[in-house]
Amino acid sequence: MVQYDLVAKDYSEMIAVDPVKKFAQRPQLLNLLSPKKNELILDIGCGDGTIARMVAKKGASVVGYDASIEQILLAKSKSKGLSNLEFLVSTPTIMSYPKKFDKAFAVMVLLYSDSEDMLQSFFNSTFKLLKPSGTFVILDCLEEKIPFGADSYGRTFVKTGANKAKITFSIPGSNPFAVDMMVFSKEKLESCAKKAGFKSIQWKHLVPNKEGIKIMGAEYWANFIKQNYWEWMILKK
Ligand SMILES: C[S@@+](CC[C@H](N)C(=O)[O-])C[C@H]1O[C@@H](n2cnc3c(N)ncnc32)[C@H](O)[C@@H]1O
Repeated sequence: MVQYDLVAKDYSEMIAVDPVKKFAQRPQLLNLLSPKKNELILDIGCGDGTIARMVAKKGASVVGYDASIEQILLAKSKSKGLSNLEFLVSTPTIMSYPKKFDKAFAVMVLLYSDSEDMLQSFFNSTFKLLKPSGTFVILDCLEEKIPFGADSYGRTFVKTGANKAKITFSIPGSNPFAVDMMVFSKEKLESCAKKAGFKSIQWKHLVPNKEGIKIMGAEYWANFIKQNYWEWMILKK
């Protein structure tokens, strides 16, 4: 059993109401990934499959994998009747697939590595699973920018050791829950990507979309833009 088995239902309910997921993470991922018809796309740490379903609706075929059996059960039950989607219980150390992927993404997953070796495995495994021209889009929190101790957009990060932290989610309209995570610097993530073989590395800030600014108001996002601890990492083979 992994920690996301225990919080699968709470996590799934939280992401349905969280403005950061709804108006920043998911729309920007779709822009950066730009999924096309007939592409084969890998969703690493797919959770309940919310993003995989959005990508499949653009016409791509999506394979999602997650270490949590409970998350994969949720992903399968929420995707009944939809085509172009496959969900597997797996981890980067054992993941294999008979075809190579055009693109891969991992949204808020690498920080749940349980060791630096596991972090490296995410990069190594994805490099091997991608086609020669493949792209890997990652969203993560940068250690040097996380506002430890403060409540930031319904998230409170507390350091629990070197490279280790606990994150408590308390998003209005959902049940609070806490999970353990690791914190990695930009330098560490870049060195893992290079070690795996990725040639090109680009960084981009996570920003809210126009709809989010309209619905939540510009004031709501002011600290989000100032704190700026979520970053996209866009890798090419
Ligand atoms: C914060 S959730 C993100 C889910 C989804 N990507 C999203 O943005 O809604 C992190 C997910 O990563 C999965 N995960 C963590 N470590 C993993 C590993 N080593 N292999 C596969 N999945 C992992 C967890 O089980 C969990 O479902």
